[in-house]
Amino acid sequence: MEERFDLLVIGSGIAGLTFAIKASRYGHVGLVTKRGIGDSTTRYAQGGIASVFSSEDSFEAHMRDTIEAGAGLCHEDVVRMVIEDGPERIRELMDWGARFSTGEGGGLDLAMEGGHSRRRIVHAGDITGEELVRVLTGMVRENPSITLYENHIAIDLITHRKFIGRVEPDICWGAYVLDRRDNSIHTFLAKATILATGGAGKVYLYTSNPDTATGDGIAMAYRAGAEVANMEFIQFHPTCLYHPQAKSFLISEAVRGEGAVLRLKSGETFMERYHPMKELAPRDIVARAIDAELKKRGDEYVLLDITHRGADFIKKRFPNIYERCLSFGFDMTKEPIPVVPAAHYTCGGVLTDRDGRTSIRRLYAIGEVACTGLHGANRLASNSLLEALVFSHRAYLKAVEEVGDPSPIPPVPAWDTGGAVDSDEMVVVTHNWDEIRRFMWNYVGIVRSDRRLQRAKRRIDLLREEIREDY
Ligand code: SIN
Repeated sequence: MEERFDLLVIGSGIAGLTFAIKASRYGHVGLVTKRGIGDSTTRYAQGGIASVFSSEDSFEAHMRDTIEAGAGLCHEDVVRMVIEDGPERIRELMDWGARFSTGEGGGLDLAMEGGHSRRRIVHAGDITGEELVRVLTGMVRENPSITLYENHIAIDLITHRKFIGRVEPDICWGAYVLDRRDNSIHTFLAKATILATGGAGKVYLYTSNPDTATGDGIAMAYRAGAEVANMEFIQFHPTCLYHPQAKSFLISEAVRGEGAVLRLKSGETFMERYHPMKELAPRDIVARAIDAELKKRGDEYVLLDITHRGADFIKKRFPNIYERCLSFGFDMTKEPIPVVPAAHYTCGGVLTDRDGRTSIRRLYAIGEVACTGLHGANRLASNSLLEALVFSHRAYLKAVEEVGDPSPIPPVPAWDTGGAVDSDEMVVVTHNWDEIRRFMWNYVGIVRSDRRLQRAKRRIDLLREEIREDY
């Protein structure tokens, strides 16, 4: 089956949904998502959106914190652009119906998180992502100009060079898309294609990300020849709940923002030995400190203690985290909870300019899939939803110009399966997947060495060879 759209959006997190809503005013949008429309990493965002709303805050201070957390590798012009645009993008969400937590005077309640020098996190309790998903998915479902394809996964970008003929620079005309319900592969064509597929946390054994965060958007762009950058900068969140059934449930940075301290099993605190901001140091520093303490002692976890804030405050400010911990047998109002670091955010990705444009014409990348220059080596807490909002908006302004371009989409061949064959044994796939996640965790983890990276490389080369032979 061949379908034609003005704009094709791949991915249904905050970046993809806000883009689709805005772009639908200018043309027909196809929106492809691997599972259900709300099944994105956005849904899991607890913390919120960092932005300057307080009179005690300033764009300069937010910029300084972002650049400091990014270890000096952020692009200052991008940092300024994103931070200055933040308040307007958040007001737009509120106009659309997003309800964020308010303080006593009725103004926004601004939370504190690691690496921030001021309170500036706009949040909806401790379920900010749920609130965003509620508003945005409702708007998309009601929009007659957006055709939604749930349970569809894009498998290859349709580039002019690969599927049509030589052209300089290369152009993207859409994607081949697998309908997971019947395994048919369709040709989705568009004047502009927007990758909003999220990050790659799931390549690690322990991650705060949902199962959908498999990095396939980055892989597709890479195979198509788009420039990809900074993939070594994987951010590890310091505090995921340590419990065999918890699937790395995130304990928001906001808990430390409200005063929680990290302790060893003995009860001793340790962050004062690593950074003057202690528990509120940038995330990479806290994660490395925990990793070092765990390795030194052979412990499986450290403890996060917020009991001194009292039960009333904890239940009011963190109702979701409190309930989830309780369901695993931990009452965080009475006892410290066991936590470990886990892979959390892909700081690198598909390289874009200030408008979300990649090195391939008509191909955009927005949200976690992109490397825009904002994050540098380590993302400042709650800067990711902000980045997604700002770049989605800027990309939309550029991409709708492509819709007005009168030149037609050229004829494109249907998907050719070539010599590939179905795997007769699913166990091979699950084993390979499991192996990758284990050696990524052990050899490409929080602290790395050349020797371990070389071991990982040898293993990935072997797997690549096996996959080629098997399929
Ligand atoms: C958190 O709530 O700790 C996550 C926020 C973020 O990743 O920015």
